[in-house]
Amino acid sequence: MKSLYHLVRPLVFCMAPEFAHKATLWSLKLGLVIPFSQTPHTMLRTVLWDRVFPNPVGIAAGFDKNGEVISALFKMGFGFAELGTVTLKPQIGNPKPRIFRCVSSEAVINRMGFPSQGVAKFKENLSAFLGKKPRPVGVIGINIGMNKDQTDPAQDYTALIRTIGPMADYLAINVSSPNTPGLRNLQQKEPLAELLTAVMDERAQSCGDHLPPLLVKLAPDLSDEMLADIAEVLLDKKVDGVILTNTTLARPEDLPESFAGEKGGLSGSPLTDISTAIIRRFYALTKGKIPIIGVGGIMSGLDAYTKIRAGASLVQIYSGLVYEGPELVRSIHRDLVELAKADGFVHISEAVGADHREEAREANQDEKQRYAAHVHA
Ligand code: FNR
Repeated sequence: MKSLYHLVRPLVFCMAPEFAHKATLWSLKLGLVIPFSQTPHTMLRTVLWDRVFPNPVGIAAGFDKNGEVISALFKMGFGFAELGTVTLKPQIGNPKPRIFRCVSSEAVINRMGFPSQGVAKFKENLSAFLGKKPRPVGVIGINIGMNKDQTDPAQDYTALIRTIGPMADYLAINVSSPNTPGLRNLQQKEPLAELLTAVMDERAQSCGDHLPPLLVKLAPDLSDEMLADIAEVLLDKKVDGVILTNTTLARPEDLPESFAGEKGGLSGSPLTDISTAIIRRFYALTKGKIPIIGVGGIMSGLDAYTKIRAGASLVQIYSGLVYEGPELVRSIHRDLVELAKADGFVHISEAVGADHREEAREANQDEKQRYAAHVHA
């Protein structure tokens, strides 16, 4: 049976992508959201960084850049919402059109360039949400980035932490959007170490006893060597978590040429395996010591579960929502419970990184067999 969203999707896809997104935000603000009536299964309740996530499925950064529809997102069943990217000063971003869909590939390309109403407006919106009584339950991440005209990135990141750091359940340092010139250079070893020193000092000064966990959001377009360098820096600086991944600059061959030719970051189905591979590599490099939020091309419960088995403790979606609608959140919850049970787990956290443990067991088994064959030869 077709879901409600699949019935209205042709109408949504008649609209230009950015207009459709605006219309979605308007309707969520007006309360046109079918509330998620069931309490998520207790198998999904996740405690990380001393925060309680009612379930491990979050909305990725970019959907609610200004913190306008937080209540609606939690009512839709998200266990956490990563708001932003928020910039210090308001900025309009790149010229439109700047979002493109490719329905046949279930993909999106965006070159938004951080349109943001700025941190003052963001703070006002978030304060209004935090002041609500009662307020829907869910964890709030704030994703921060620098203004386009900033030449000293640390200045913007530290000012943002000063202004809104204490309001966050976690902070995400975005150094991976492809649409702000120079931003991705902050993923190089030395600039990254310098930036992290500055933001961690600022967090200690501004956030007092309420230190929000600090996460770094990375691009999928990283060589093995770069990823190893980054893992070393993040371990050294004792960063609390990592978000893998942002959109990719890659263009898989099977994308239609007219779509693939658009500049910007690609997300949705073509990103699924690329981001899972990065999660798998990062988990192995760090031996699972840094919790991972897995994001990129999650279009089904199985995609989410695959990322969890590869090493993600939590997952996020964005493009999946465009193609599958809000029902996707519920179906991911349902499938995660079923898939974890089928693997013999009693809680979803037991599935985190399970592929790596299985691989190690198999390697061990092979070694034992080789040894036995050698002894009996
Ligand atoms: C994004 N994404 C994003 N990420 C981020 O850190 N800050 C941002 O402002 C945005 N903005 C944004 C806008 C649009 C239109 C899209 C489609 C995406 C990236 C997003 O959070 C996510 O990392 C990628 O989209 C991959 O996940 P999906 O979309 O494949 O589930």
